Amino acid sequence: MKRVLRGRVLSFFAEPQGRGDTASYSYFEDGAVLIADGAIVFAGTWFDGLADGAELVDHRPNLILPGFIDAHIHYPQMQVIGSYAGSLLEWLNTYTFVEEQRFADPAHAERIAGRFLDELVRHGTTTAAAYCTVHPQSVDAFFAAAAERNMLMVAGKVMMDRHAPQALRDTAQTGYDQSVALIERWHGRGRAHYSISPRFAITSTPEQMEATQALARQYPDLHIQTHVDENLAEIEFARSLYPNVADYLGIYERYGLLGPRTLLGHCIHLTDREVGLLVETRSVAVFCPTSNLFLGSGLFNHQRLREAGARVALATDVGGGTNYAMLRTLDEGYKVLQVQGQRLDPLSAIYMATLGNARALGLEHRIGAIVSGMEADLVVLDATATPQMRLRMETVNSLEEELFLLQTCGDDRAVVETYVAGAAQKSRLPA
Ligand code: GUN
Ligand code: ZN
Repeated sequence: MKRVLRGRVLSFFAEPQGRGDTASYSYFEDGAVLIADGAIVFAGTWFDGLADGAELVDHRPNLILPGFIDAHIHYPQMQVIGSYAGSLLEWLNTYTFVEEQRFADPAHAERIAGRFLDELVRHGTTTAAAYCTVHPQSVDAFFAAAAERNMLMVAGKVMMDRHAPQALRDTAQTGYDQSVALIERWHGRGRAHYSISPRFAITSTPEQMEATQALARQYPDLHIQTHVDENLAEIEFARSLYPNVADYLGIYERYGLLGPRTLLGHCIHLTDREVGLLVETRSVAVFCPTSNLFLGSGLFNHQRLREAGARVALATDVGGGTNYAMLRTLDEGYKVLQVQGQRLDPLSAIYMATLGNARALGLEHRIGAIVSGMEADLVVLDATATPQMRLRMETVNSLEEELFLLQTCGDDRAVVETYVAGAAQKSRLPA
């Protein structure tokens, strides 16, 4: 079935070089997107006859963007969000490692996986790189729920064999075997992408790191996701467990886990050597502003990483993070940079949440832009969604100002509709 969306269509094709960089994006004021079989067939200026034989959805005057992409999130932490703790390790031990044990129950995993993907849809996020728990059934539940919604998800079973409750531990061997079975079951099935997911160096023995290296060698095209340099006490603990390694990132380097498909959550307290290693291996540093502020972890130094030539992605990190909305995440990210005297202009911000994150995940040939041939994952935004936004819009004079208002004041209320592979998903959900 063919469907045409009419509205203002915005899509980036290059990283903006600051404010006013109109060469970095395409924008059709009276635009349209023609979708067939879940893919974009045409995107450009509306013309009469375009919708002949197709269903027409008139989204004017709202903005149509590529669906948001979240580069790091934990689906089992839906009921952890907003837990009161002084620091990362306290938060993990007091709440997260308790909650994640509930995912041994497939019925619980199924319930939360569905609720989680619905929440992403409500916030305009169409793809995420997600952590499951140590239980294989948590991965089955997640990918099954994603398949029901036809969502492109990157996810994997967390591997952890120490420094966690016994009920949350696998072993080097079972972590490897379960990961292989899940990869064979899910990777490439529909839109599912498996991600090798050692939680972090603290919860993996050297034997498990070796098993993870074997997995990465066996499946070189898979993503690898983990955490690094989030919190000072965490760093000290990790380094004490691997005393002969130069620094925290060096642990993952030693086990061959760095590369262009490696997503490293947080990257706050990096040494110069670690920054160089990120650049050299083309690994991705994932900026998680709401989480870094909520857990008091520290301030991500975006400018330092960009000037060094490191790749950067943006993420919510729910449930350490405090909101599912990439718009809220951009707002907090803006403030994190602002207090360091760094700037994040509105074009670069929206780029990060769309094409930037697609590139960080190596998925830019499929998602992240509204171009013929791409998969039709889209979000429709209304910058007048609340009374105060409507009032503020009276004084907005440009597209960039509108984008900045959306990121500063917008949340799920600004998301009018979310299309996943061409199908409207948000309007199907209960209000
Ligand atoms: N480091 C290891 N596990 C986690 C997690 O679940 N959340 C955060 N924020 N950091 C981690
Ligand atoms: Zn995380």
